[in-house]
Amino acid sequence: MTPAKIRARIAGTGLYVPPKVLKNKDLEQFMDTSDEWIRQRSGIEERHVIEPGVGTSDLAVESARQALAAANCTPESIDLIIVATLSPDHQFPGTSAIVQQKLGLETTPAMDLRCQCSGFIYSLNVAKLFIESGQYKRVLVIGAEAHSPLLDWTTRGRDVAVLFGDGAGSVVLEATEDNTGVGAVTLHAQGQFADRLWIEKPGTSKGVWMTDEDVQQGKLYPIMEGRYVFKHAVERLAQVVREVLEKEGRTIDSIDHFIFHQANIRINEKVAELLQIPAHKVHNNIQKYGNCSAASIPMLLDETIRQGKIARGQTMLMAAFGAGFTWAAAIVTY
Ligand code: ACO
Repeated sequence: MTPAKIRARIAGTGLYVPPKVLKNKDLEQFMDTSDEWIRQRSGIEERHVIEPGVGTSDLAVESARQALAAANCTPESIDLIIVATLSPDHQFPGTSAIVQQKLGLETTPAMDLRCQCSGFIYSLNVAKLFIESGQYKRVLVIGAEAHSPLLDWTTRGRDVAVLFGDGAGSVVLEATEDNTGVGAVTLHAQGQFADRLWIEKPGTSKGVWMTDEDVQQGKLYPIMEGRYVFKHAVERLAQVVREVLEKEGRTIDSIDHFIFHQANIRINEKVAELLQIPAHKVHNNIQKYGNCSAASIPMLLDETIRQGKIARGQTMLMAAFGAGFTWAAAIVTY
């Protein structure tokens, strides 16, 4: 008899956002913007931001504790920690090492994965392969971002700053022999477009970490060609959804829930329209949190599960697009 195939199932999820809320109207104190502009262009109404003294790892740990509680397991039972983030506590070591220590663990392996808004789906794929290969039984996957210290909160940076928020989402994945868990995954990247959405400095490119000129020119802040990114996001998301469905021989109708990255509600509406996905199957929470990059998908997943909208045995499709460019999709049965 051939042994049953091992799969990686979602045992528990968690979400954490810092308590401080900035409503669109509050941003008018720092920059020339308006609630109407932000709401109409992106769907965002408010976002959570950290206070001084709190970092990405703190958000990650809080969401991880919730996921561990939901999975009914201890930090010690985790075989590997993966943290996806574009806003690490430090350049090195990775934020995952800090999270490991804050969870009270001594030598559990921990790695960072840097694929921006697609980082959670890339991490899910890495965790799935570790579990399916039999190397590990339980993996903690975290998407966590503290964007607010990275943003230019003046009119110069308004096209990017108003879109982002701070938060973290976690998932405990564990080995199962039933038919649930992470199924087909599709990953892509196209570095040709790296400078359309990036933070250029500090960094080792051109042999200089950072100059005074870089600081004056605002190279420490994210730059985004908004319209260009929007167009690519819609095209690539629609493509990758079709691709991952085909990989598993499925159709849109056989998917119960669509958990898309939360960059702009208009992007998700366009993708749903192109693919004729019924609106009630597409979940969004960008209104409350803004774009939380690698954290957006696990945050939305946790919230949708806790609201009782996703039941055990139902199937969801996750898809993301972000800086790199990177894009990815996964089919997961809860
Ligand atoms: N408030 C008021 N006015 C603003 C603001 C603001 N916050 N930001 C820009 N404007 C102005 C612009 O200066 C411009 O003025 P002008 O016409 O006088 O030049 C005008 O508003 C229109 O700007 P556009 O950039 O053309 O606005 P658009 O309709 O394209 O919306 C947006 C901008 C929301 C950024 C959109 O392009 C978008 O969502 N892009 C994709 C975002 C995304 O998907 N990011 C990827 C993930 S992020 C990641 O991976 C890290």
